[in-house]
Amino acid sequence: MMNPRKVILDCDPGHDDAISLILAAANDKLKIEAITTVAGNVEVDKTTLNALRVCDIIGLDVPVAEGSNRPMVNERQIAESIHGDSGLDGPNLPEVPSRKAIDQHAVDLIIEKVLASDGDITLVPTGPLTNIAMAMVKEPKIVPKIQEIVIMGGGTFGNWTPAAEFNIWVDAEAAKVVFESGVPLAVFGLDVTHQAQATAETIERFGKIDTKVAEFVVELLHFFKKTYKEVFDFDGAPIHDACTVAYLIDPSIFEMKHVRVDIETKGEFAYGMTCVDLLSVTGREPNAYYGVGLQQEKFWDLLAEALASYK
Ligand code: BDR
Ligand code: CA
Repeated sequence: MMNPRKVILDCDPGHDDAISLILAAANDKLKIEAITTVAGNVEVDKTTLNALRVCDIIGLDVPVAEGSNRPMVNERQIAESIHGDSGLDGPNLPEVPSRKAIDQHAVDLIIEKVLASDGDITLVPTGPLTNIAMAMVKEPKIVPKIQEIVIMGGGTFGNWTPAAEFNIWVDAEAAKVVFESGVPLAVFGLDVTHQAQATAETIERFGKIDTKVAEFVVELLHFFKKTYKEVFDFDGAPIHDACTVAYLIDPSIFEMKHVRVDIETKGEFAYGMTCVDLLSVTGREPNAYYGVGLQQEKFWDLLAEALASYK
């Protein structure tokens, strides 16, 4: 058995962030070094609270560090319409989690962990990229020591504007820092995450798994599916963020293309767009493995297996 891959999950839970975390914690191919939180779906005090609540539900004891409560340049924007007022509406959540966040800012924890590592830490951001970019700006020595960054963000189309996906649009300046950093990137944009839509059948399947964690995920999915119907008229809820963790566990689930991805930070209509050079028209050096395909059966089997593994 190979050593588990060390990951820091940088997230804004968020229904799909929570499911991503549940998938990561269940799999012994991954070792969660820390969870760091960022403002995105809701303000950072709420995303931190939600991360701690999910840790309680799954019995996970890793450091949780609260991070940035606003993007690097812009005003904060949140996505209550999708995730509800708490950021994790649907299930009955424990009001007060049993643990608190550690007394260190997420940016400093990322810097400390990466500097102390042997270059074997992978960052897994599933919210706006503020913490990751801030860490790179504050301590550039971390950049060559990050093994890989596996990102949920972007797309060749948008879900927050016609051109931009939410995570990138919220903090496009941070995304620019990260995409231009030279760190190996694997990027899961809407092109692939929309192939991971939990339908009524998926929810029914998970409903038959007799664990508390499966029950929790089913409640999350009912709410998430409802808002995706209301806001986007989708029949299923895309579990965007879990694509990152699924890739780390079993890359064969995904079809990836090595391409150039640049971030638009000035456009009149396209601010926050990921310009994905799928046809290599720019001649620019590829900087990312970009997800274009997902094998649905394998993806849902992996998630079902994870839910069943919790007792
Ligand atoms: C992304 O935005 C958030 O609402 C989700 O958690 C996901 O990370 C999808 O655009
Ligand atoms: Ca997210």
